[in-house]
Amino acid sequence: MPVIVFASSKGGAGKTTACVILAAELARQGKDKGIDISLIDADEAARTINLIRRQEKALQRKISYSVLFTRTNPALIPRTLKAIMGDFKKVGIDIFRCSLTDREAFRAVRSFGGTVNDLSPQEVSGIEKAVINAKEYAEEVKRKLKDSIEEVRRSANG
Ligand SMILES: Nc1ncnc2c1ncn2[C@@H]1O[C@H](COP(=O)(O)OP(=O)(O)O)[C@@H](O)[C@H]1O
Ligand SMILES: [Mg+2]
Repeated sequence: MPVIVFASSKGGAGKTTACVILAAELARQGKDKGIDISLIDADEAARTINLIRRQEKALQRKISYSVLFTRTNPALIPRTLKAIMGDFKKVGIDIFRCSLTDREAFRAVRSFGGTVNDLSPQEVSGIEKAVINAKEYAEEVKRKLKDSIEEVRRSANG
């Protein structure tokens, strides 16, 4: 049985997508020929929430977590994203109200170093919006941290 492996050191490179698309196409072509296709996602990153839950069990303490959507379209929320958000909400998984929008300025930070505040408007567009986005994101992280610290205190006292 041939085994095809998808590997890349970079998360979000498209391994799972390339694998799912290939498996579906091969299964479609092999349907009438009795060819079975199996797909296994062995990437631990694909099951991050399960990993957190396993750690909670092992450490016997709650780990606060929240899902942050990144590279979102600043202008609209696509239906596919709304559906994912709905699925998370249904099972009680906390998601950030803000997201990290897809911006050239955030890519520039990775390419040039520094922070969004250090970027030059001559070189990169949309810096102001990236600065605002970075702030609201940090504010929400701080709020979430505060809430989780308070929760730990409450459970320690009660
Ligand atoms: N060809 C593509 N067209 C559109 N979106 C894509 C494509 N390839 C990947 N993506 C999107 O990029 C994101 C990361 O892809 P994914 O396959 O989950 O990466 P990996 O498994 O390498 O971490 C996903 O949201 C996926 O929907
Ligand atoms: Mg994957």
